Amino acid sequence: MEDDVVLSAPLFANMDPEASRTLLASMTPQHVARGEVLFHEGEPGDRLYVIRSGKIKLGRRSTDGRENLLAVLGPGEMFGELSLFDPGPRTATATGLADAVVLELGHGDLIPWLEQNPTVAKHLLGALGRRLRRTNDALADLVFSDVPGRVAKALLDLSQRFGQQTDEGVRVAHDLTQEELAQLVGASRETVNKALADFAARGWVRREGRAIVLLDVERLERRAR
Ligand code: CMP
Repeated sequence: MEDDVVLSAPLFANMDPEASRTLLASMTPQHVARGEVLFHEGEPGDRLYVIRSGKIKLGRRSTDGRENLLAVLGPGEMFGELSLFDPGPRTATATGLADAVVLELGHGDLIPWLEQNPTVAKHLLGALGRRLRRTNDALADLVFSDVPGRVAKALLDLSQRFGQQTDEGVRVAHDLTQEELAQLVGASRETVNKALADFAARGWVRREGRAIVLLDVERLERRAR
């Protein structure tokens, strides 16, 4: 079951199941506890990872110690490939957000796989393209949108990955603390908190610790625009 999620990653797209299973079997599982750092920004990197279960956050730290989250990734998503495609140090720090199991693949094993399977390279380019689009959107939002708009967008984005439909609405178990949600949105904890309290007062969301229930997705979508 968990392997099915991994096999849905672009790394295995359209591949013969037997070849995929062989590559999968060559990948080493690693447990990453919440708060545990898998690798740091600036380190040399020689392997990439596909998430089998749990969540990983990717973040950067400014010279004065402030943190910014680039992304929160879940099962089936890949990271750690940039230092291969564009040789250089790790561009972000990867930390467990919820206890996770990741499968690691050495960059040296990826190259022959891509050479033998050009369609996989095409799908990886697709994944990189989607990430660039997301990053461009986030950059534009930082300039053009207000904090509540960005919070609404972040919640909708998280719901695409981690949301579960319930009778009441979409329950999103994001596992982020208020501080981490603020780092993802690129604003102070106080401002993000105020926006969430306002959404809750309007009946758009209900907060549940490290989860949130989206009660009125349509309003949130309008606010995110
Ligand atoms: P690498 O630079 O090897 O290590 C950090 C990883 O974070 C990087 O590879 C990418 O896989 C991932 N990453 C970097 N920037 C982003 C981003 N903007 N969105 C999502 N993932 C990213």
